[in-house]
Amino acid sequence: MASDRVPVGIHDLTFRTTSLQLTHAELARHTGVPLAKYHQGIGQKAMSIPAPDEDVITMAAHAAAAVVGRHGADRIRTLVFATETSVDQAKAGGLYVHSLLGLPPHIRVVELKQACYGATAALQFATALVHRDPDQQVLVLASDIARYDLDSPGEPTQGAAAAALLVTARPALLEIDTPSGVFTHEVMDFWRPNYRSTALVDGRASIDAYLNALTGTFGDHQARGGAPLHRIRTICYHQPFTRMAHKAHHHLLQQAGLPTVPQDIAAALAPTTTYNEVLGNSYTASLYVALAALLDGPTPLDGETVGLFSYGSGSVAEFLTATVRPGYRDHVRTGAHRAAVTDRRPISYAAYRDLHSGTLPTDGGSHATAAATPGPYRLAGVRDHRRIYEATGPVDAGPATTGRCVAAPGEGGGG
Ligand code: COA
Repeated sequence: MASDRVPVGIHDLTFRTTSLQLTHAELARHTGVPLAKYHQGIGQKAMSIPAPDEDVITMAAHAAAAVVGRHGADRIRTLVFATETSVDQAKAGGLYVHSLLGLPPHIRVVELKQACYGATAALQFATALVHRDPDQQVLVLASDIARYDLDSPGEPTQGAAAAALLVTARPALLEIDTPSGVFTHEVMDFWRPNYRSTALVDGRASIDAYLNALTGTFGDHQARGGAPLHRIRTICYHQPFTRMAHKAHHHLLQQAGLPTVPQDIAAALAPTTTYNEVLGNSYTASLYVALAALLDGPTPLDGETVGLFSYGSGSVAEFLTATVRPGYRDHVRTGAHRAAVTDRRPISYAAYRDLHSGTLPTDGGSHATAAATPGPYRLAGVRDHRRIYEATGPVDAGPATTGRCVAAPGEGGGG
């Protein structure tokens, strides 16, 4: 039964990334760029690099399996796969995840794209579906690999991650508030034509468009009666590079006529950037990785209002708030998140450049990929223009809070 009064929001949130990383210290040794420009100038210390048998599907399946392993899949009626790193022009990437996890057939699966904003659109669509029928759950997967040309200004802001969000009634982590503020403005600040594997970006235009969209969304949010700035405890910003969050918060405070002390801004944002500064840009997953970092942090947030600013180049943006549920700490996945970050193997600059240049064959033949990932799902190869995925090991779903706690590959139902 539909009911606007039932709280709806994020019941579970987790992310996974690739198994390899390139540190900016290693990058700086070869580019000659002062390390301080990477560490302080753009706020990045390392970036996730996919192994040859890792992609947006394997990362998303890993994150999704943890969520499904904890809660089961019986009530999931919709799976939305948000990405701008699509592996197919027609088929939704979520179908591969559906198959790898052995999810039940009575689920609608779609893919959604609008640059880094896609996951927030998915979250809002999910909350509407759950408001319509609070017995249903929606699995939102946000998975991206940020790739720019070698030796381009965007190169040090590459990265990768997949976030999985279970959207339900009476959520354990966060209730999504209304209203939200939205803003759309057509601009060519960042884009990737279908024939390219790397994005094109006008960095300065992108920063300007991002800040313009922040003004637009926040103004709309306030005009519609959204929580005033002084009631918002912390804001998670989309982080194409983590210094962007500092620029954004400075901009918002300045527009509100509030003090813009750099140390205060740094202190306010630090809990939201701990993962992204070592993962790099994960496009549409980035905001939800920032949110995971905030929830995993030491400061209790029970009952607090947090802000979320989602920006997708091109451009569409949204400012929303969420109320953190009392007791949320019993449901966060801090250990798994720290392991995802620290378990990555550092690679050399030469190995990184080799991987960056690698592409999947397009001749329609049968080609196996080298077995490299220690993760539970891998891209085994391509055959007849089809991607072949396989499950290679069990997924640790983390401590049980409700339902089952360990999912074997291909065993997603039940709970
Ligand atoms: N020590 C400390 N800081 C330094 C430095 C040094 N030695 N050298 C430069 N910096 C600072 C600069 O002052 C600048 O800071 P500011 O932005 O506060 O002025 C910052 O480092 C970046 O320097 P800049 O010369 O502007 O870098 P760049 O031309 O290499 O471009 C980006 C930086 C972020 C614009 C570029 O990496 C990019 O386009 N990234 C992609 C962004 C993206 O994907 N956007 C789309 C999604 S929103």
